[in-house]
Amino acid sequence: MTSPSDRRAVFLNEMGVGPLWVRRDAAPASAASEPLMPAAAAPSASEIAEMDWTQLQASVASCVKCGLCKNRTRAVFGVGDEKAKWLFIGEGPGRNEDLQGEPFVGPAGKLLDNMLRAIGLKRGDNAYIANIVKCRPTGADGKDRAPTPEEAAACMPYLQRQIELIEPAVIVALGKTAALSLLGLDQNIAVAQLRGKVHRYAGLPLVVTYHPAYLLRKLSDKGKSWSDLCLAMNAYANSR
Ligand code: URA
Repeated sequence: MTSPSDRRAVFLNEMGVGPLWVRRDAAPASAASEPLMPAAAAPSASEIAEMDWTQLQASVASCVKCGLCKNRTRAVFGVGDEKAKWLFIGEGPGRNEDLQGEPFVGPAGKLLDNMLRAIGLKRGDNAYIANIVKCRPTGADGKDRAPTPEEAAACMPYLQRQIELIEPAVIVALGKTAALSLLGLDQNIAVAQLRGKVHRYAGLPLVVTYHPAYLLRKLSDKGKSWSDLCLAMNAYANSR
């Protein structure tokens, strides 16, 4: 349901009159450094919760909910089977993903594809891949960085809606950012403390494993990740 002020914004937009500006203190905290933001481009969480795939994708592509939009080439929505039973969630797009608009296309993505293959899955075939944030977090040095908790929170309604639409049987959180954001946990909890247990996200089984980029740096932990995938397969089997 849209509010009267949002309907007004849409109407003015259609009329070519606008954008309608909102007060700075009405914008999310992460956008506080922005003087003004167009209301029509920042849907509320409850509006996002009503969107279908097409609306959601369009909304992500034009999102200005946090400062990450300033540096993005393309928002990275997610990829895969929209009715997948398996949902893999990473941290956020890196440089390659920002350029191509698809998650996990760099070296970490190749490893993720191999992990999927090891459990009989394929990108796009009963598997969906998404990230906690849709736009690339870029450090002051121009390198990839982890999203801040505020950036993750601003983006979370989009992921929540994707999860509702997909209705996966099992979620695999790839790395610390995904695990902590989805489970709402404190920033100083390590992945190692969360492995080996089936958690719950909105009632769905959630298994935590290492991020593929970490596994590329620490090959000796690949065996642990295989155990995590076995645990996820078990959770999947129990969900049926
Ligand atoms: N790392 C992630 O967490 N997600 C991507 O899409 C790419 C790298």
